Amino acid sequence: MPSTELVAASTLGVKSLEECLRTRRSCHDFGWDPLTGDELLGLCWAGQGITGPGGQRTAPSAGGVHPLELYVVTAAGILHYEAEANRLESVGRGDRRPALCTAAQSQDVIGLAAATVVIVAVEGRMDPRYGARSRHYELVETGHVAQNVLLAATAMGICATPVGALDDAAVRDVLDLPANHTPLYLVAVGHHTDRPHIAGSR
Ligand SMILES: Cc1cc2nc3c(=O)[nH]c(=O)nc-3n(C[C@H](O)[C@H](O)[C@H](O)COP(=O)(O)O)c2cc1C
Repeated sequence: MPSTELVAASTLGVKSLEECLRTRRSCHDFGWDPLTGDELLGLCWAGQGITGPGGQRTAPSAGGVHPLELYVVTAAGILHYEAEANRLESVGRGDRRPALCTAAQSQDVIGLAAATVVIVAVEGRMDPRYGARSRHYELVETGHVAQNVLLAATAMGICATPVGALDDAAVRDVLDLPANHTPLYLVAVGHHTDRPHIAGSR
């Protein structure tokens, strides 16, 4: 088993799939303390982790093309999920969460979250194979990825809410992404308010 799976498995907890399916709820009661690097990595692994010898991932992808990338906006900066290495790579410094909140219709759920996972489609990856059908598949795959992240959050006792009300271009600007990267969906994440805080941090 690749080491990436060992890292994630130890983070994702021991709740059954049935329990996660029963108890998943969109949740807005974010506490103040930040998620750990392992928690953020576990969420991203659940969404896009590589689990097969042919590069297959936790979420299915039409033709195995994998057109999606995951970014995480935290208080410290912006991280990119490097699936091959199962690593979160810093791609930007500074707290871009307020700007992300503005780009998502100023919703409190983004403003109050410790972090937000941004699911992005890279235009051009699907097109050579699927042409006009590409966007359809990208959106379907975004749903697969988001549900994996939401169930992983539930397994880890993390509060999470999917957010579709966003200005694609504004989110692209917030993350300073190239023009062919289209943000499609957000998952706001954080600890529940009833979890003990780490004093003074966010
Ligand atoms: C496609 C989609 C878009 C959503 N967009 C938002 C959103 O912009 N803001 C928000 O607070 N919740 C959003 N939600 C979460 C829904 O409000 C939530 O799923 C719904 O109230 C049902 O609650 P549950 O997730 O706890 O079952 C979205 C959910 C989906 C599936």
